[in-house]
Amino acid sequence: MTKIIKDLKKEDYVKIGDAIQKGELVIFPTETVYGIGADATNEKAVDSIFLAKGRANDNPLIVHISNFDMMKDLTEKPNKMEQLLIDAFMPGPFTLILKKKKKIPDNVSAGLDTVGIRMPDNEIARNIIEYAKTPIAAPSANLSSRPSGTKIEDIKEEFDGKVSYIVDGGETKIGIESTVCKVIDGIPTILRPGKITPEDIKEVVGIVKLDEHIYKKADGKVESPGMKYKHYAPSCDTIMIYSENDTVFLEEMKKHLKEHTVIIGSKEHESYFPNNTYLSYGSKNHFDEISHNIFTLLRKADGLKPDLILIEGVKKEGLGIAIMNRLIRSCSYHYIEK
Ligand code: TXA
Ligand code: MG
Repeated sequence: MTKIIKDLKKEDYVKIGDAIQKGELVIFPTETVYGIGADATNEKAVDSIFLAKGRANDNPLIVHISNFDMMKDLTEKPNKMEQLLIDAFMPGPFTLILKKKKKIPDNVSAGLDTVGIRMPDNEIARNIIEYAKTPIAAPSANLSSRPSGTKIEDIKEEFDGKVSYIVDGGETKIGIESTVCKVIDGIPTILRPGKITPEDIKEVVGIVKLDEHIYKKADGKVESPGMKYKHYAPSCDTIMIYSENDTVFLEEMKKHLKEHTVIIGSKEHESYFPNNTYLSYGSKNHFDEISHNIFTLLRKADGLKPDLILIEGVKKEGLGIAIMNRLIRSCSYHYIEK
């Protein structure tokens, strides 16, 4: 039986902490997306995360901490640049890949010698980790390949009955997952873009790189196993279109329209498609609004069972880089830029 709770009191945190200690699964909100968590030091508990999500076991999990003391047992000492990144971006929507210690079971890191560490900037998440008295391994709360869970209804649909607790913290603020970063040969390299942008990182350490697979299909060896897998994709054909020029954009969209096409796009373009179901993600250049809405809209569009989903892309700058990374994967790289 899954207990769904909100407005947590101390006794609720105690119960949830005990459940984690016992090796059970708990879904909790973070500032990015919901996580499905278990004791990161308990191999069996971690196995049950992979099972509940249907996740490939070569795709490692992020370990969540609530204070920096917790890190000492989990990873080797960060170097100077890593420490600067930690000081600048933790707590926050930022995951740093570090050399792991033995305390992290191999299934957490999928056999790699590194582990992703993140300190969420969300009070509920941090309290849960504190009361559990152990770091919590937590991937996004969604069935594997589906959009990440940002809304409690979507999460209940996929996980009711499969976990001990679902903690309802309302819609998650940011809506897309944390920036994943690894310092490689002295250069902070973004393996998954997020709310912490390349510019933010450059400002702190003067240098930054985007992994080559941010917008490109990955096959063969990759820095981050998550890049290889189908993700965020609706079950019908999905195409994304982008142009800086409005006329060119609208012409290209019209070329692809079918009778039962659902469009996910900007508020500004809604009136051009009166005969289609149009799901507005908000204003064209308001990336915070778009990232907050995008996963819910992908789920909604999919649920309407159209012949085709057309998505309007955004400019690849700032948080737009992360939005485009998720959208390009949601349309299985079927992306037209004019
Ligand atoms: O915002 C987030 O990061 C959310 C919330 C719940 O914290 N978590 C999340 O976890 O998105 P998940 O498991 O859905 O995504 C983790 C990503 C995957 O793409 C994985 O391949 C990558 O991080 N990753 C984890 N450990 C890694 C490692 N040691 N080296 C390279 N990539 C790693
Ligand atoms: Mg995920």
